[in-house]
Amino acid sequence: MAELTSRDEALAAARAYPAWYHTLELPGYTTPGYADLRHVPARALPAALRGQRVLEVATFDGFWAFELERRGAEVTCIDLPAGTDAQWPPNKRAENEYMARAFDVPWGRGFEIAAAALGSRVDRIPCDVMELAPERVGGTFPLVFCGTLLQHLRDPVGALQRMHAVLEPGGTLLLVETFSVPLTFRHPRSAVSALMTTSGMSFTWWVPNLRGLEDWARTAGFTGPGRRVFAPPGQNSSRGLRLACLTFQKK
Ligand SMILES: C[S@@+](CC[C@H](N)C(=O)[O-])C[C@H]1O[C@@H](n2cnc3c(N)ncnc32)[C@H](O)[C@@H]1O
Repeated sequence: MAELTSRDEALAAARAYPAWYHTLELPGYTTPGYADLRHVPARALPAALRGQRVLEVATFDGFWAFELERRGAEVTCIDLPAGTDAQWPPNKRAENEYMARAFDVPWGRGFEIAAAALGSRVDRIPCDVMELAPERVGGTFPLVFCGTLLQHLRDPVGALQRMHAVLEPGGTLLLVETFSVPLTFRHPRSAVSALMTTSGMSFTWWVPNLRGLEDWARTAGFTGPGRRVFAPPGQNSSRGLRLACLTFQKK
């Protein structure tokens, strides 16, 4: 990837970049991202995280990593080494690979441009969540954050177990994940997940109801949720989905 040696160069690269996922407020330029989550951090994140070490899982262009850093945290984040490493449903792989080739941008380039434009010190490590372990990310953390990842995985509970493994004892997991509102009304007390692999959602395995989302975390060994707030999803999200911001503790 071409190195960015100044903020001006980073901002020029930001304007030229064709594949923004996150809407990010860079100095003098807001990226035209597919996912505008700017209304969520005030509800989801503690106001101050000064000096707190945080691991952010599945960062994409870094929206959550930069929000955590803005609150004073020392942030490490992970994402896949390449977009094509994603656990796409097998029946969707060919069409998703075709789309990925059409964009033809190195995975993580948006993050790199945004970090340079913001003067960020977030450390981004290419790592599949299924391989997450203390030795891959410099130890354990008191806080792990994960946003809108679990629905894209064949085995959400396995991914949550990996997050459990990099949390300090008594540490907190903060999830900001989508759930189905209609499924939650239909099954308020049972854990239910819709399998979406033959739906129009190209990257999605599961859409859980709220109890289903919470039970994934409890099955992986967490207790909670302690705090539970909700937010509208990004503007491009499918109808009937909402974001749940949930905190769990490592037993
Ligand atoms: C829908 S985006 C969510 C981005 C961000 N976390 C958010 O909440 O806005 C999904 C992200 O998960 C990443 N991802 C998908 N599978 C992954 C895996 N197995 N390990 C790590 N990251 C993964 C993708 O590369 C992408 O950055």
